[in-house]
Amino acid sequence: MFNNSLIIAGAIALISILVVEIVRDIYHFLAHIWQPLYRLHGWHHRIFKPDLSVKSEEIYRQANWYNDLPESLVMLFFGVIFAQLIIINGLITENYQWLVWTGCIYTITYSLGAIARGLGIPYADAITDVTHRQGEFQSLPGNLFVNRTYHWRHHFDDQDAYFCGTLTFVDRIMGTALSLKGKKIAVTGASGSLGEALMTQLHQKGAKVTALTSKPQELSIMIDNQTIPVNTVTWAVDKEGELKELFEKIDILIINHGINVHGDKSPSAIVTSYQVNAFSGIKMMELFLETVQTNRQKATKEIWVNTSEAEVNPAFSPLYELSKRTMGDIVTLRRTNAPCIIRKLILGPFKSNLNPIGVMSAPWVAKQIVSLAQRDFRDIIVTINPITYIFFPIKEFTQTIYFKLFTK
Ligand SMILES: NC(=O)c1ccc[n+]([C@@H]2O[C@H](COP(=O)([O-])OP(=O)(O)OC[C@H]3O[C@@H](n4cnc5c(N)ncnc54)[C@H](OP(=O)(O)O)[C@@H]3O)[C@@H](O)[C@H]2O)c1
Repeated sequence: MFNNSLIIAGAIALISILVVEIVRDIYHFLAHIWQPLYRLHGWHHRIFKPDLSVKSEEIYRQANWYNDLPESLVMLFFGVIFAQLIIINGLITENYQWLVWTGCIYTITYSLGAIARGLGIPYADAITDVTHRQGEFQSLPGNLFVNRTYHWRHHFDDQDAYFCGTLTFVDRIMGTALSLKGKKIAVTGASGSLGEALMTQLHQKGAKVTALTSKPQELSIMIDNQTIPVNTVTWAVDKEGELKELFEKIDILIINHGINVHGDKSPSAIVTSYQVNAFSGIKMMELFLETVQTNRQKATKEIWVNTSEAEVNPAFSPLYELSKRTMGDIVTLRRTNAPCIIRKLILGPFKSNLNPIGVMSAPWVAKQIVSLAQRDFRDIIVTINPITYIFFPIKEFTQTIYFKLFTK
């Protein structure tokens, strides 16, 4: 009984923190869509230069009075309401009732930080304003928790995304954890079913798409019965090096090309499968990673690799499975210390030249991929096979630990 009450009180304490964090992020979101609030919040956006140095100490201090303090008071207000509701409904025993105020106490530390920064107390900014510190980004944008790399994008990539302050929960629900607006995105296998569908989806999200195709052709996409030409670049296996200059300018590279030799197991089928499905993608990935140097590139560049659920399930085509698993394993190995985000696309059967009997449609699959990427899923699983949702995360998790333990 004693333990149960403590567990419930502990859970309520954690939920009270979650509540004030959600309030913070919703307030921030509203501040971007409601002009009276933006008048206050705009101060916060006036402060920083892209290297996160402040434009003026005076504006920095003002912004804390106009934005950070009111934001924390709104959090506090809802924290108090939450605590009262818990007490009134008798959800917490008297012994542990003080725990219901955890969210409020947590919020008060933010209010005090804002006041200290507003008063210009030395080192208050360094101690309390951790997502706005200068210096080289040491980690990728946080997946569950907001870090400097994550938050930088709200200021300098897209102010209509990346609203979260501490937990990424609200951005992930709203689909604002990755902005595609204005992003330069290159897609390989562009003339194929998924390539074309992805380019269409990405174009609709405001991205500037480049088609990478292995055939000499000019590609286009169809939207509302209108043909829209796409910037097309031709490449070939073993000539990936020629793409270096293009990759410098690209934000997101989607490695999507693939081949299925089905039952063929001739020497040339083995070589072609590995060259197309694995080695060309690995070369492109390395070439692209070399272009990730600056803070901006670390925060905004990404690679998405379409490896297929053949990583963990039979595709009834051994060479397809072998080559796709090789690609998948190398991606797992490489992303243990990659300088930018690398997502995997783990897809089930959809109809295309490569798989004429696929049950899903390429446009539907592309829509799910983009929606999950905007929710910052690093492993994007779209399939009708429930086993993949269980086996793939287990395989990926254990293999990542193994690779981390036995590589430098
Ligand atoms: N369909 C499925 O059920 C399924 C399931 C899971 C994963 N996938 C993966 O999804 C990706 C897209 O496949 P899809 O189903 O859309 O098939 P698709 O319509 O056949 O598209 C594949 C594209 O890959 C490119 N390609 C083919 N041979 C190549 C070569 N030798 N060198 C360079 N590029 C080559 C071609 O595009 P260009 O001519 O424009 O270069 C081709 O159109 C593939 O990686 C595939 O393995 C498919």
